[in-house]
Amino acid sequence: MGSASSILAIAYLIGSVTFIVGLKMLSNPATARKGNLIAAAGMFLAIAGTIFLYEENGRKLGNYGWIFAGLAIGSVVGVLAAKKVKMTAMPEMVSMFNGMGGACAMLISIVEFNHLVHGGAEVNIVAGFKAIMAGAEYNAFTNVTGKLLVILLGLIIGSVSFAGSVIAWGKLNGKIKDFAFKGQHIVNLAVLGVILVLMVWLLVSAHHTSTSDYSIDLQINDAGLQLTSGGALAGLSAFFYIILILSIAYGVLFVMPIGGADMPVVISLLNSFTGVAAACGGFLYNNPVMLTGGILVGSAGTILTILMCKAMNRSLKNVLIGSFGASAKSGGGTAVQGNYKEISLSDAAVVLRYAGKVMIVPGYGLAVAQAQHVCHELEKLLEDRGVEVNYAIHPVAGRMPGHMNVLLAEADVPYEKLEEMEQANAAMPTTDAVLVLGANDVVNPAAKNDPSSPIYGMPILEVELAKMVIVNKRSMKPGYAGIENELFFQPKTSMLFGDAKTVLQQLVAEVKAL
Ligand code: TAP
Repeated sequence: MGSASSILAIAYLIGSVTFIVGLKMLSNPATARKGNLIAAAGMFLAIAGTIFLYEENGRKLGNYGWIFAGLAIGSVVGVLAAKKVKMTAMPEMVSMFNGMGGACAMLISIVEFNHLVHGGAEVNIVAGFKAIMAGAEYNAFTNVTGKLLVILLGLIIGSVSFAGSVIAWGKLNGKIKDFAFKGQHIVNLAVLGVILVLMVWLLVSAHHTSTSDYSIDLQINDAGLQLTSGGALAGLSAFFYIILILSIAYGVLFVMPIGGADMPVVISLLNSFTGVAAACGGFLYNNPVMLTGGILVGSAGTILTILMCKAMNRSLKNVLIGSFGASAKSGGGTAVQGNYKEISLSDAAVVLRYAGKVMIVPGYGLAVAQAQHVCHELEKLLEDRGVEVNYAIHPVAGRMPGHMNVLLAEADVPYEKLEEMEQANAAMPTTDAVLVLGANDVVNPAAKNDPSSPIYGMPILEVELAKMVIVNKRSMKPGYAGIENELFFQPKTSMLFGDAKTVLQQLVAEVKAL
């Protein structure tokens, strides 16, 4: 191993370690930013190392113009997009970035397939020469099938992820409408089946292609001794491109019918696909940092998908087939009966001002109203007057993982004020007043009490255990799950109608006046 490749191996090792450390740090809001920077530094090291130190058979990388132009364009677009993005548009940006990762894996597979077909078979001349001298047979093409398998996996998974992510992006920003037809799941399964059959067929055909089917061309030129092979796999190219087209079609068909608000779960799933596709690239190039990065993204995405499904008490199949939305919109659960009572702004201000302990429950409505800053202002005002104020964070409050944490962090709410569901529920019985801000499903007691409810079994914030509950929303309309909320009709609960931002601004004024 030359000194350049030893340094490169160390750079890859450091890169891999930074990914693991960075990911670990991302699990806590206090260290998340630093974790992100550490992993990004590791990625920079790995990329710079590859560009300047990588060499194969004594030759370095070429095409520097293309490489640096691509890096410059990608960096400018990435920085601008990340700086400009609104908090509520975060899932669509994540989706688009993820789609680009899938596209990379897809392109790598196309390039490497062409290398394999047109003279890219790895031929170890020295090993071959020694084997022939020893009277043994040497088949230079033994690794073709293995390589083709990795190429095909990268192609299929990468293109499904690319096409699916682009559709998810379009649906989230309203450019693409939901689209479903009768029997779509059967068509999807059929397309997937054809892809798998073609893949196996291609592999078997490649395996039965013997050395004699290749034309071998040996030349001595500027680059030294060059051996190119080709021919045999070229006949199979058409099937490779059919697989590519079907995989893109599958990505589109698979995401098209899924309800817009379920998209975060699908994006997380597609994210894990991209990770696996990148790991295939790592195998292909024998590149440890690509392999580690891919495996980490693949497994983190899978774990996140499972956690999101658990927090909504839904199976992945249920999310993908969309029956939660369907049953909810058609009114699942027992009908809620009774009256609700309203509270005036001034009374609500008095309750909050003279409480010993207040718990704020943020939800999707708070994010839509962009009321996080004024919410923090109210919290500080109450704290200044001796009230203890904390936030109860439900794992799927809002529309993406960590939505509320990021929203409140944007308004500089201290991390230690955010209580996770278990901790918050333990504090509910000693809480004087709960202020629910644009949250609905995550505080619906039907999840515990009503086995016929579509959200039955979903863990919730048990706000009804507190002494009093004030719910702010604009109307009595249901939330994401489309079901009524019996909490609103309980004697402890008072409704404070209005847009979250306006109501909070008015509450701030009222508390100041007390
Ligand atoms: P939701 O149940 O969707 O309720 C939000 C409430 O906010 C609505 O009832 C709405 O009532 C109110 N609202 C909307 N705009 C408002 C405004 N400007 N001011 C005040 N209130 C406003 O939200 P949640 O409790 O946060 O629950 C999240 C739901 O999303 C769960 O069902 C969860 O399963 C689902 N989901 C979450 C995720 C992740 S990962 N977070 C992913 C997919 C799905 P009005 O219209 O009456 O105002």
